Amino acid sequence: MELATFPAITSMIRMDHTHVMAAFHRYHAQTPWWRKRAIVELACTALEIHAQLEEEIFYPALSEAMAGDERFTKSKPEHDKMREDIATLRSMGPEDAAYDALFMQLMREVMHHVADEETVLLPTAERALASQLSDLGMRMTKRRMQLVAQNRPGAIAANTAGTFPLASFALMSIGALALAHCLRPAFARRGYRA
Ligand SMILES: [Fe+2]
Ligand SMILES: [Fe+2]
Repeated sequence: MELATFPAITSMIRMDHTHVMAAFHRYHAQTPWWRKRAIVELACTALEIHAQLEEEIFYPALSEAMAGDERFTKSKPEHDKMREDIATLRSMGPEDAAYDALFMQLMREVMHHVADEETVLLPTAERALASQLSDLGMRMTKRRMQLVAQNRPGAIAANTAGTFPLASFALMSIGALALAHCLRPAFARRGYRA
């Protein structure tokens, strides 16, 4: 019997991008302030976890195939700029006049970054790393579970519900993981063994 293979890391990265874009599309100038805060917190936490996963697992695997390529080497500095914008947003409140403009700026930067990844980095990985994509996907999933557990999963679950009030958690990867973490029995969360 053949063992089922794990989904490719490139498919997981595309799915993360889709989820962040879905959160972005919920944000409008007229959105109530409490929902703006939930959308921004969810999108920022998802982006931070996604960027860390790419930097720890995906970019190192791709570094040989794209050595010296500016479309690859600019990726980490773009993540750093995104982290700066996130820190500034967290120091402000949704009632601040500059809040909308800064979040829209973050959205533009992320959309540009995602377009480069989806049209250059991911297709390159699928050609150069074909035999490793599933193993890399498994490593990314394990690490994602650790990072969600470290990032206040209760807040992620609440922000997912505030951002997507009518959507299924199953559609939202970090929201679903965070909810699953919160629903684990208390003894399991504390690391007790049977
Ligand atoms: Fe990235
Ligand atoms: Fe990405």
